Amino acid sequence: MVIAIDGPSGSGKTSTAKLLAKKLCYYYCDSGSLYRAVTYFLLAKDVDLKKSIDINSALKDLKINYDVKKNLITLNDINVTQYLREDSITNNVSRVSSVSSVRNFLISIQRDLADYQNIIVDGRDIGTTVFPNADFKFFIDAEVEVRARRRFNEFLECNIKKDYKEVLEMIKNRDSYDENRKNSPLRRAQDAIYIDNSDMGLEEQVLKIINYIK
Ligand code: CDP
Repeated sequence: MVIAIDGPSGSGKTSTAKLLAKKLCYYYCDSGSLYRAVTYFLLAKDVDLKKSIDINSALKDLKINYDVKKNLITLNDINVTQYLREDSITNNVSRVSSVSSVRNFLISIQRDLADYQNIIVDGRDIGTTVFPNADFKFFIDAEVEVRARRRFNEFLECNIKKDYKEVLEMIKNRDSYDENRKNSPLRRAQDAIYIDNSDMGLEEQVLKIINYIK
């Protein structure tokens, strides 16, 4: 069984997917962290991210493993999970995720994860491209100012001081990159259930989803 949850940055899809996975006793795959891991790898190797050819050849040296039971990502057997949300990665991940070879490489990893277990996968193209036949599809959204405020508060909770306007700009830039790229852009699948959670709490939203599934 596969449940696909897509949506833009700060829409709360990750918190939703995690809580849902806990309540349903499913595994959870955060596909964004796979794109972040590849970005980490390319930055560490000093690959020019503007050159798809260089990215393609760098991928040949990459072995990536996502342990959904422990929620760990390893690159060539080194655990990189704790570095994936650093600014250098966040600022470059959308460029990397627009490259076809990166997407093809990661799509097969995500499909393999669903081969032998019940899983909830969140991302941008899960219901449209990765699992077009998912058992359930949801598209989670919220107004951009609300999403930026949530991200701003997440930074505060981690004692990272940011300017709200800077966070808002960062989210708008990423939205625009993700929505306008040629390969699997961020888009709601036609058969996905749309939830705008601008005025909704997490528990309420997860209950709503569980009711749909039931
Ligand atoms: O958590 P946040 O919304 O900030 O982003 P994320 O889910 O970690 O995803 C980071 C980036 O990876 C996105 O901005 C997309 O560029 C890319 N991504 C993608 O292209 N396709 C996915 N299925 C998941 C993420």
